[in-house]
Amino acid sequence: MSYRLLLMCGSIRRESLNRRLLSLAEGVADSSPGHFRASFLDIRRLPFYDGDKEVVDTPAEVVRAKRTVGECDGLAIATPEYNGAPSGVLQNALDWLSRPWGDSPLTGKPVVTLSASPGPEGGRTAQERLRGILMRCGAEPVGDPLAVPCADWLWDPQPTRFDSVLAGRVRALLDSLASSRPLAGSA
Ligand SMILES: Cc1cc2nc3c(=O)[nH]c(=O)nc-3n(C[C@H](O)[C@H](O)[C@H](O)COP(=O)(O)O)c2cc1C
Repeated sequence: MSYRLLLMCGSIRRESLNRRLLSLAEGVADSSPGHFRASFLDIRRLPFYDGDKEVVDTPAEVVRAKRTVGECDGLAIATPEYNGAPSGVLQNALDWLSRPWGDSPLTGKPVVTLSASPGPEGGRTAQERLRGILMRCGAEPVGDPLAVPCADWLWDPQPTRFDSVLAGRVRALLDSLASSRPLAGSA
């Protein structure tokens, strides 16, 4: 049974560096035939968290997102850094996914985190905060945070720096994810 890897990007812009980083990670996952089955969770259609809607008439997108997270074996989340923090859209998605208390699909899920930024720190601060938020939500950050600084080159048609340097680090991240918990149903 292959590992159901869910990719989640905290940036919704078309030419997102973080989205691109996750796509490259998806390529690394796909290059291990039969090992990973990777798919993206699109969070752009999630409405703002609303406690009233959580109780009555939960939006279909929220129900779908919770089910998708519940069914995955682990997540890779990439966040942009906005003023030293993860993006609002990502925080909003995690707020929905963290609910209700005691029955969150994030509980016990292993998560690896990534970030990319044109700046010299690569979004490291946002990622540290993201890992804190994930722990609050009951998820389990694993592996080392992977921050890619000065990352504009990610959109190069042939991003050679990714091939030579980063692919190995992404693979190590995915391996730490896969080894952090037995596959669902395989115990
Ligand atoms: C409101 C705002 C605040 C930002 N703050 C930071 C920051 O604190 N640190 C940083 O490295 N980059 C910062 N940036 C630059 C983003 O890292 C950059 O726009 C990045 O490309 C966003 O990620 P994306 O390409 O996945 O959309 C900021 C950008 C915006 C729009």
